[in-house]
Amino acid sequence: MTSKHFIALATIILFCAITVNHMAKSVLEKLFNGKHRQMEFVPIVDALGPESVAFDRLGDGPYTGVSDGRIIKWQENEQRWISFATTSPKREGCEGQHDHRETEQNCGRPLGICFSEATGDLYIADAYMGLLKVGPEGGLATRIATHAQGSPFKFINGLDINQSDGSIYFTDSSSLYQRRNYIPLILTGDKTGRLMKYEQESKQVTILLTNLSFPNGVALGKDGSFLLFAETTNCRIMRYWLTTSKAATLETFAQLPGFPDNIKRSPRGGFWVAMHSRRHMIISWILSYPQVGSALIKLLPIDIMKAYSVWSKCSGTGLAMRLSEDGEILETLEHKSGKTMRSMSEVQEKDGHLWIGSINMPFIGLYRI
Ligand SMILES: *[C@@H]1O[C@H](CO)[C@@H](O)[C@H](O)[C@H]1NC(C)=O
Ligand SMILES: *[C@@H]1O[C@H](CO)[C@@H](O)[C@H](O)[C@H]1NC(C)=O
Repeated sequence: MTSKHFIALATIILFCAITVNHMAKSVLEKLFNGKHRQMEFVPIVDALGPESVAFDRLGDGPYTGVSDGRIIKWQENEQRWISFATTSPKREGCEGQHDHRETEQNCGRPLGICFSEATGDLYIADAYMGLLKVGPEGGLATRIATHAQGSPFKFINGLDINQSDGSIYFTDSSSLYQRRNYIPLILTGDKTGRLMKYEQESKQVTILLTNLSFPNGVALGKDGSFLLFAETTNCRIMRYWLTTSKAATLETFAQLPGFPDNIKRSPRGGFWVAMHSRRHMIISWILSYPQVGSALIKLLPIDIMKAYSVWSKCSGTGLAMRLSEDGEILETLEHKSGKTMRSMSEVQEKDGHLWIGSINMPFIGLYRI
């Protein structure tokens, strides 16, 4: 074993040890006092990672984007998934069992999805293909934007639609790192993410904010006076005012105990925020010294993403919180027993059910409230 291998191995062991220790301690935390609910699993065959969940204007679905680049639709009466849409015209070698991280650049990786109630079109934030839309019949989606004010997108991630004028608010998580490299994106403290707006009439993209640290999920407030977006690296939700005397200003809406992914409005009020994992002490430490993160990445002779997947197996579970319109915690959801939901990417609430997406699980979680 070379010294580099030894350092890599030692780092992983340290991550695991700290994580286990951290989990034992966190049992004492107040946040755990939510009701214990039984989760069901809706399996997905030959693909992983149902990242975002949406229902069409008839209430059918859910629809979700998965690791092989497809958007699939749940047929409730047949109890199975069918293929609905794709984001890339190249489909050769995309489907089937292999590591989709190696093909997602060509096959597409649909992340945030949202239906327009007026037209029935599905809008898709694809990490590699940009902003797309597809009609109610599905098929190959059309690209509607691939760059903003001359600079190309790198990692399109979350979106929400203003249902009355059709404008779309969406995030580009980084101008340097693609989705496959989201761990270095976090560890280097990258600040090149953007929040943008696409307008239906002009078909133009406007940049609203730059220099963001991994902007991710987006959700408009109920009255449209503000929008929220997750800033993943900083473990927080930001509020960007669209109207009122505070228009065009930014403030911290909520500080979280984990790395937030998508945000969805709840029909019972407030917002569901799904978290990839709890924020561990070691990561907090690395993030307070971004040069350490960069050095670690250069030093490690192994694929940092592979190391992370080993680490995530020994680390905790995904977590979600429902926050009020003022950023207070209303409810906490954490899956602690049985088949583990290792990470959560989205919680979509509909008719007393919580549909739970994840970036790396071969199923959607389903809770009946
Ligand atoms: C964003 O960061 C760049 C580089 O650090 C800096 O030059 C620029 O002024 C920043 N822009 C804003 C709007 O803060
Ligand atoms: C949608 O846009 C309209 C017109 O620009 C605005 O009045 C409304 O507040 C917005 N609604 C939301 C939910 O953003």
